[in-house]
Amino acid sequence: MNSVPDSAPASGAEAIIDLERQYVLQNYSRYPLVVHRGKGCHVYDVGGVRYLDFIAGIGVNALGHAHPRIVKVVREQAALLIHSSNLYYHEYQGPLARKLAEVSGLARSFFTNSGTEAVEGALKMIRAHGNQAGAGKHEIISLENSFHGRTLGALSTTGQPKYRHDFEPLLPGVRFVPANDIGALEAAFSQHTAGMLLELIQGEGGILPISAAYAQKARELADRYNALLVFDEIQCGVGRPGTYFAYQRLQPVVLPDVMVAAKPLACGLPLGVIVANEKAAAAIGPGMHGSTFGGSALACRVALEFFDILEELLPAIREIGGYFHSRLNDLAGRHALVKEVRGFGLMLGVDLTIPGKQIVLDAMADGLLINCTHDTVLRFLPPYIVTERDVDTAVKVLGKIFARQKGAAA
Ligand SMILES: Cc1ncc(COP(=O)(O)O)c(C=O)c1O
Repeated sequence: MNSVPDSAPASGAEAIIDLERQYVLQNYSRYPLVVHRGKGCHVYDVGGVRYLDFIAGIGVNALGHAHPRIVKVVREQAALLIHSSNLYYHEYQGPLARKLAEVSGLARSFFTNSGTEAVEGALKMIRAHGNQAGAGKHEIISLENSFHGRTLGALSTTGQPKYRHDFEPLLPGVRFVPANDIGALEAAFSQHTAGMLLELIQGEGGILPISAAYAQKARELADRYNALLVFDEIQCGVGRPGTYFAYQRLQPVVLPDVMVAAKPLACGLPLGVIVANEKAAAAIGPGMHGSTFGGSALACRVALEFFDILEELLPAIREIGGYFHSRLNDLAGRHALVKEVRGFGLMLGVDLTIPGKQIVLDAMADGLLINCTHDTVLRFLPPYIVTERDVDTAVKVLGKIFARQKGAAA
């Protein structure tokens, strides 16, 4: 496997990085890597150095890079029609919405350009539903440690102070409850509750799965108090769990009123979606919501092609996800700095006893792209097309780095 030094960017990269430093808002602390192209599970930097991509654009590049079927439909559709606005119909929104209804068990879709926009729309649905149901029904329940996006509504429901504190005051009426605490959930619900937001695996929160019993209780309480239950499947859904959506893994399955998804939907083109049952969809009438870009012909056609491919991939995702999980468990058995391996399907995390940032840099220097969330959790969101060989390569790189840490600590 090729390698690069951990601080010096590949040749030709310095000018690109310097230009960004001068002209781009300095809100990202990027790694010193300029990505030039990708093929399958690998990306190549501007110097031609190859990396195994186990973060896949933070869970976006579900079919890896330059998948031939995706490249083909992008080419064809770009030459026909990219965007027509939502003033008119095009040929692909309807079929994609029908596909989403079939695979989700819900009824109607609204298309957005990002995850946070899908959350915003779902929050408006909750508010409108509450207002239509009666005076004072406007509270939203969300989980501590959750992440729902960066726009002000989504941020207001994000249960992590580090993302919120610079922007307060945020939306009033949001109640945060600890994850998996059924008693606290029962105490939070009331006649004032209009809706609840839930990630079935908290992603930015450190790959923390929510229990089936908790999701079931949320369903019961939402029904009892006529509130909308919204599952945020932006990171944990759309094939990544080895089922279409994470709620389909629960025993028994818990169906939300609304589900929001985004990241992998159009394999790298911006596309998000709100999928709602008829009850929730009825809250939004003509003129109450909209988007200029959302649901373009290009993005919707690519998403249809993706769903076609995904259907066949789901069993393989479960299998390779299980294999990856067991290989990470082997690592945990050999290295005391691994506290826990968490997650399911191809959304996995390794919780460490030490901060993960340097491990991410070391992995990059050894040709493996991963990231770290919640300070100590290495996060893996590989493309759905990874092979056992790719997993073995990634685990070998990690094992080598963990062994070096042991040596450094001794
Ligand atoms: C669970 C969850 N919700 C919402 C978002 C926001 O999505 P986006 O970055 O596309 O706006 C993210 C992004 O990481 C996410 O993980």
